[in-house]
Amino acid sequence: MIRTNPAGSRFGGLWSDLAGIGRDGRRGGYSRHGFDDADLQLREWFTEQAQRRGLDVEVDRNGNIWAWWGAPGPGAVVTGSHLDSVPGGGAFDGPLGVVSALLAIDELKVRGIRPAVPVAVVCFVEEEGGRFGLPCLGSRLLTGAADPHVVRRLHDADAVSMADAARRAGVQPEYLGADRDRLALIGAFLELHVEQGRLLHAGDPAAAIGVGSKIVAHGRWRITVTGEGNHAGTTAVPDRHDPMIPAASAVLAARRIIAGHPGAVATVGRLQPNPGGTNVIASSVDVWLDVRCGSAGDTAALVDEIVADVRIQARVEGCGVVVHRESMSDQVALDPALEVELAELLGAPVIGTGAGHDAGVLAAAGVPAAMLFVRNPTGVSHAPGEHAETADCLAGVQALADAVEGLVDGVPG
Ligand code: GLV
Ligand code: MN
Ligand code: MN
Repeated sequence: MIRTNPAGSRFGGLWSDLAGIGRDGRRGGYSRHGFDDADLQLREWFTEQAQRRGLDVEVDRNGNIWAWWGAPGPGAVVTGSHLDSVPGGGAFDGPLGVVSALLAIDELKVRGIRPAVPVAVVCFVEEEGGRFGLPCLGSRLLTGAADPHVVRRLHDADAVSMADAARRAGVQPEYLGADRDRLALIGAFLELHVEQGRLLHAGDPAAAIGVGSKIVAHGRWRITVTGEGNHAGTTAVPDRHDPMIPAASAVLAARRIIAGHPGAVATVGRLQPNPGGTNVIASSVDVWLDVRCGSAGDTAALVDEIVADVRIQARVEGCGVVVHRESMSDQVALDPALEVELAELLGAPVIGTGAGHDAGVLAAAGVPAAMLFVRNPTGVSHAPGEHAETADCLAGVQALADAVEGLVDGVPG
C-alpha cells in the first residue's frame, strides 16, 4: 500500500531504505556493482517498492528490471536509471533517478492521472561498469550495442564471469542480447540524474533542475605494460625493465596532452601493478585510461597521443605495451524535441554533460530520450561527497512527474 505521508517524508523513507546498502567501509561511500550482494539487495528493494505501488515487475533477458503501470505496449513512457555505483561512489548517481521515478508515479496518482499509454520504471544493470568494465552494460545489451558473446566472458577482479554473476541473480546468460521488441515499445525515455558538475549552481541560483542536451564522446582503454619482475633492492638501474616507468608516463601524458585540447579530459583512476609488492619491481602494470572529448574520432586521436608517449618510455625501459579498448561511446544528442518541450514546460536551463548515461545509449539507438538534472551544490560526483539538497530532489520529483504527465497525454481521473 502506498503511504500517504507528504512527499518529503516519502522521499526520506525511500532514501533511508537505501542508506545502509552497499556501504564501503574501506573506501568510504558506496560500492554497489552489477549482481553483487548489494545490488541484489537493491534489486529486491526496488521490486518490493514497485509491487507495493501495484506495478507489474518483470526482469528482461539482460537483467534490467521493469515495473509497469499499465500493460506493456507501444508508446510507453519509461523513466528510471541505475542502482549500481562506482567503487566508493556517492549515494545519488543512479538511485536518485530510480527513487524519483517511483515517487513521480505516486505523484501522478495523487494528481489523478490515468495515463493513455503504459508507463514504466526501469533499473538498468551495471551502468558504471564498476564490476565488469563495460559501462551501461544493461542498456547496451538491450539496444544491441554490446555483443553478448563478449559480455558473457567479461570477468570481475575475482575472475567471476559476467555469465556466472548473472546466473546467480537469476538471469540466464544464454539469453543475453538485443531486445528489439522491447526497445520498440519505448515512446520516450526520461532519466533524472544528480548533476555532475556545477552548471546549474553557477548559472542561476534559482534553477534546481536542468534539462540535458548532449553527452560527449567517452571511452575506456586498458594499457598493459610488460617488463621484468625483479628485486627492488638488488637490481641495478641499467638492468631494470620496470613497467611502472612507462605506466607513470601515461598518467603524466594524460594531463599534459589535454592541455592542448580544450574541452577534453583524460584520467587514470585505476592502475594495477602485478604482482604488487613494495619490494618488487612489477612484471607488468595495467593502466586504465578514461578519455572524453567532442567526438569519437577526436577521443581516439587523443588516446593515440598518450599511447605514443607510453611507447617511447617503454622502448627506453625495455618494456612492451599492449592497448585494449574496453568501451567507446560517440557523442550523442538527446532528443531535441523533448529537450525544447521539457525546457519550456519546466522553465529549466539546458545543459550538456561529460558523464555517460543509459539515456545516451538509448538515444544512440534511436529512442527519444531526455534527461533531467538535479542541482549538486559542490558538483562532486563519483565520490562520497556527491550531494543534492532534499528540497532540490523534491523539485526533481515534481519536474519528472510534470514531464511524464506531459508525455502520457493522461486524463485527470
Ligand atoms: C558514468 O557515470 C560515467 O560517466 O563514467
Ligand atoms: Mn556515474
Ligand atoms: Mn549515473
